[in-house]
Amino acid sequence: MDDPKVIVALDFSDMASAVALVNRLDPSICRLKVGKELFVREGARVVESIQSRGFQVFLDLKFHDIPNTVAAACRVAAELGVWMVNVHALGGLQMMEAAAEAVAGYKKRPLCLAVTILTSLDTSDLQGIGLVGGPAENVDRLAALAAQAGLDGVVCSALEVQRLRQSHGAGFELVTPGIRPEGTDMNDQKRIMTPARAIAAGASYLVIGRPVNQAEEPVQVLNMINAELVE
Ligand code: C5P
Repeated sequence: MDDPKVIVALDFSDMASAVALVNRLDPSICRLKVGKELFVREGARVVESIQSRGFQVFLDLKFHDIPNTVAAACRVAAELGVWMVNVHALGGLQMMEAAAEAVAGYKKRPLCLAVTILTSLDTSDLQGIGLVGGPAENVDRLAALAAQAGLDGVVCSALEVQRLRQSHGAGFELVTPGIRPEGTDMNDQKRIMTPARAIAAGASYLVIGRPVNQAEEPVQVLNMINAELVE
C-alpha cells in the first residue's frame, strides 16, 4: 500500500512497549502517531527509532504558544523528519501562519494540521472559555481560519468530516480519531464511526488507537481494516 490510511496511535508510556508493537507492524499497512505521553518520556529518540524502521510519523503535540515559539517547534519537527505535525487553531491566525511558513522551506516538509475544538469540550465548556455558539460552528470557523493560514488541514471528529470536506474541497487533509471497526469496543469514545464510513464521508486519514494497540493480533486487525477500505 503506497498511502496507508490508518495512523496507529502509539499510546504507550515508554519506548519498550511502543517498540514491542512497532516491531510487529509494517510501514506498508499503517503510519504511526506519537503523542504527548510517549514523547515526554522518551523525546525525539522514539521518533527517530520508529522512522529508522521505515514508518512515517505523525507527531501529535498540538503546539499552542506565541507564533515565534510555535514556528521554532515546527522547524525542529521538520528537521526530525516527521510526516505530520499539528498546532491548536485557538493559537490564532498569526500563529498558524507562522507554523505554515516554518515548515514550507523544507524539501521534505511535514504536513501541518490544526486541531480546532477538542472533542472533549461541549457547548457549556465553550461558553466557559468565552467562545460563542456550539462546537460545530466553532469547528467550522477555526477550520476556515486554518485554511486561510495556509495549513494543510485539520484533525476533526468523523461526524464533522462530510461538512468540512464539502466546504474545503479535495486538497484539505481531514484526520479523524474516534474510529471503531464494526463489533469492537467503544472504550471511552462517545461518537464513533467505522473506518469505511469515515473514508466514504471524506476522511483523508484515520487515527486508530486501542482497537490496534491493545489487540492480540494487531496486524490481523489492520489487514481487516485495510481490506474494508479498498472494497
Ligand atoms: O484508542 P483510541 O482509538 O480511542 O485512540 C484515539 C487516539 O486519538 C488517541 O491517541 C487520542 O488521544 C486521539 N484523539 C482522540 N480524540 C480527539 C483527538 C485525538 O481520540 N478528538
